[in-house]
Amino acid sequence: MKYQAKIKWLEEVDSTNTQALREIDALDSLTVLSAFSQTAGRGQRGNSWLVRPGENLTFSIVLKFGPEGFSPLPAKRQFAISQATARGICGYLDSKGIEASIKWPNDIYIRNRKVCGVLIENSLQGEYLSYSIIGVGLNVNQKEFPPQLTNPTSMSIVSGIEYSVTEELPLLCKEIVDRLRMIEDSASALAEEYVGKLYRLGVESAFVDCSDGTGFEGRILGVDEAGLLIVETKNGELKKFAFKEISYVI
Ligand code: BTN
Repeated sequence: MKYQAKIKWLEEVDSTNTQALREIDALDSLTVLSAFSQTAGRGQRGNSWLVRPGENLTFSIVLKFGPEGFSPLPAKRQFAISQATARGICGYLDSKGIEASIKWPNDIYIRNRKVCGVLIENSLQGEYLSYSIIGVGLNVNQKEFPPQLTNPTSMSIVSGIEYSVTEELPLLCKEIVDRLRMIEDSASALAEEYVGKLYRLGVESAFVDCSDGTGFEGRILGVDEAGLLIVETKNGELKKFAFKEISYVI
């Protein structure tokens, strides 16, 4: 099969993830829907994704599994899609001279500020994935953000460069697609690369256990196969957390 992304630019849409979902039967694997403007961009935890039209990248990659797409992927390995996407975005930023890290599971940070968010929506058929919609919101040229966002940044704030979003998108997609291919041929190397880029890996840091709101200190050791975050607490206890079960004190 071909591994090249086919990019379609849309002037305005509610959300590229929602649009991809509406059109899913008609879209080939690795179609990318990218919008100059989203009127109802969606983020994680039911939040909105609010960015200025035309200044940033907001797009969704459609990934299909099966005869005309990627090799079948068991649902229990779905975290690999997060790994590939986050690692690909970091690879792209590296190529631009911007050092970024992955705040588990797939936020992209530059130092202590968020430059990119990812919303992955998977559809299962039995024990396997049938398709995945990978939504990416990368802050490219925006310099001012609404006050309700706690720690945003953009490529331009960090580098002082004004980018052409249409020229940057194919470069970013290539980095992501290269990592998605690793799920098929070199999944353990991908997992290692992902862990190597984790924000606060091995660094004594403060967290909140969301089950009871208590604060604790510990060190991130890595991520298990299911994508759970492994943290060693100060008293030497190993704990595993799923998404929404832990928050970072930043
Ligand atoms: C997050 O909350 O960090 C995830 C943000 C994901 C935003 C992107 S923008 C393109 C795609 N379409 C959406 O509606 N959301 C994702």
